[in-house]
Amino acid sequence: MRLETTQFCCDRRPGEEPLGREVPCLPGPPAALAKTRILFVDDEPSMLRVLKMALRSMAGAWDMEFVNSGEEALLLVEQKAFDVIVTDMRMPGMNGAQLLNHILRLHPHTIRIILSGYSDLSEVVNCVGLTHQFLEKPCSLDDLKNCLKRVTQVKSRLTNEKLCELAGSLKNLPSLPELYLEIAEALQSPTASAQRIADIASKDPAISAKLLQLSNSAFFGFSHKVFSVDEAVQLLGVSVIQSLAMAVPIFSSFSRTKCPGFHIEQVWEHSLQTAILARRIAGHHLDDSFLGEQAFCASMLHDLGKLILADGLPEEYAAVLQESRDTRTPVFEVERKHFQATHAEVGAYLLALWGLPMPLIEAVANHHHPRRCGLQEPCLAGVVHLANALQHSVKPQPHVVPSLADPEYLRYVGLEQQFQGWRAEFSASLAEAAHTA
Ligand SMILES: [Fe+2]
Ligand SMILES: [Fe+2]
Repeated sequence: MRLETTQFCCDRRPGEEPLGREVPCLPGPPAALAKTRILFVDDEPSMLRVLKMALRSMAGAWDMEFVNSGEEALLLVEQKAFDVIVTDMRMPGMNGAQLLNHILRLHPHTIRIILSGYSDLSEVVNCVGLTHQFLEKPCSLDDLKNCLKRVTQVKSRLTNEKLCELAGSLKNLPSLPELYLEIAEALQSPTASAQRIADIASKDPAISAKLLQLSNSAFFGFSHKVFSVDEAVQLLGVSVIQSLAMAVPIFSSFSRTKCPGFHIEQVWEHSLQTAILARRIAGHHLDDSFLGEQAFCASMLHDLGKLILADGLPEEYAAVLQESRDTRTPVFEVERKHFQATHAEVGAYLLALWGLPMPLIEAVANHHHPRRCGLQEPCLAGVVHLANALQHSVKPQPHVVPSLADPEYLRYVGLEQQFQGWRAEFSASLAEAAHTA
């Protein structure tokens, strides 16, 4: 798959060729972008030589520097900031983890990537939280380029430095307190099963995102991209998740008093119901169970950016929520006015930093604007958009201004009639569930 400034849209099977034309899934880049500044650090001169040679073709877009040690890198980053740092792990003197610790403190917005030949669990523990992504040597040139293009492409859409720093410095995301306690308890139990952990995790966007980050990391060497939390837990295994959770805080609990007007229960309930609706729309109504499973996962993650904003900028976000309520304006529009970005772009940026599969990133980025995908058949972002609008209209939440389905999009993909039918069906099933409860 080619990862240029355009990207194939979202619902292709792994390994499948693109379905026809190439379309921009993310909004187009600003007209004149500054070069992306990338620093490569490796104590092996031959490795740096290979990288220099192999990446010459990127010199028009990337301003690259190459240094032999952590100490040298540190001197350089004290003089100028880099957008991305790619470092070896094991180096004499300052190792990769120590270097990234300094980088996190000095320049939290810098994207931190480890390119290493070693990946035992103790090293994973040292790096989780410090590094956004881990690439394993030998790494193909395409994999390295694609990883760098992916993160820099999504970063270029987040022009607010403060939001870049916020997402860049996040080691974990806060969960619904009750689910955090449940997962913490399960992970301390010697008899915890993978099914139990997956059941808890798949109900919480923050826990889902962290497990998808870990399972999609080359730390663990799985040969394919992981799209579902069930699979993530199966692949990682209970004991690895337990070891990581014991050593580093991979999960955390949201403080309910932190951001006035932000109710984590509402985001949690909305995400879960949107995920269930998305799976039903894609799996049953569009008869595509593969798309249905991806849509479930993308919908669980689609409003993750709200958690990031409420947790990281609580006072500013409380003002945004208040303005949304006072003016009856959807929150993403007020976010754009205040932050020059919405929760969709902030969430997508974090998922890109964390190395989640590109279709999930695109779906989260475009869930309020699925026409950006340019496809006349419903794509992953489109299914999330429709499920999101259905959830808002069928089960409105107090003090939340609903996001409606884009009528142009419905016309574009020819789903106007079906959408009205789905709304009636979901209203009836919710009423029935409430009656039998
Ligand atoms: Fe949203
Ligand atoms: Fe939403």
